[in-house]
Amino acid sequence: MQDHKGRLTKDGIRIYETSEFEGMQAAGHLAARILDEVADLVEPGVTTGALDAFINQRVTELGSVSATIGYRGYQHASCISVNHVVCHGIPGDKVIKDGDILNIDVTVILDGWFGDTSRMYVAGTLSRKAERLIQVTHDALMLGIEQVKPGNTFGDIGFAIQQFVEAQRMSVVRDFCGHGIGQVFHSPPNVLHYGRKGSGAMLEEGMIFTIEPMVNLGRPETKVLADDWTAVTRDKSLSAQFEHSVGVTADGCEIFTLSPADRFHPTWR
Ligand code: MF3
Ligand code: CO
Ligand code: CO
Repeated sequence: MQDHKGRLTKDGIRIYETSEFEGMQAAGHLAARILDEVADLVEPGVTTGALDAFINQRVTELGSVSATIGYRGYQHASCISVNHVVCHGIPGDKVIKDGDILNIDVTVILDGWFGDTSRMYVAGTLSRKAERLIQVTHDALMLGIEQVKPGNTFGDIGFAIQQFVEAQRMSVVRDFCGHGIGQVFHSPPNVLHYGRKGSGAMLEEGMIFTIEPMVNLGRPETKVLADDWTAVTRDKSLSAQFEHSVGVTADGCEIFTLSPADRFHPTWR
């Protein structure tokens, strides 16, 4: 199935044919559609396990395969990260309560292409500080995406995100990053959400990767719990994340995981 038409750069980054972007469009659209659909279920009283069960069912019904089930021993179709959980929250018995904010992250495989996206949801009442955190994290992702064009570097993406977030007196998580994607789940490069202008590999048409900044209201440090997956803020401060899968085009980029119903941001409808 994998035909490896494209070449690798000296940094080991695969260059896809732009004709291959169709595969990413379909996979990205499907992942984003599932995140649209699950929004109606997020309310106080629902368990994270019930949200994951719905996602798992839709992944199958829509003809795709979960990329996360079986990935390094992970057993669920989504990661659900509530409040001070930074990423890789494991769905289960946890009951969502009024005022909780959560990130849901889904990766599907469709015809061999990986669509990876995550976004924030709110259960019930949204506090002012959570609202600000979500807005800043969303805008940081979009500012990073604005830097995606041939000739810019990966450092330009990280710089744009870090500079904006820190100007709002919030912090960028360093311990997790975006990644190359396409016909594999995680491949070079590591897409850092901090950095210096002009540093890192040069962006070229045909590269496909994720940008997925995690932003904390407090300090950037994280720790992984004893389950070996759940990452939390060390200072217990609230954390948020948004993720898109993007491809570099001749003059900019294409976002593969746009929300079909325009529900990417929790206060949009
Ligand atoms: N979707 C996550 C990412 O953005 C990876 C989740 S791996 C899992 O890269 F095993 F935790 F699901
Ligand atoms: Co990702
Ligand atoms: Co993801």
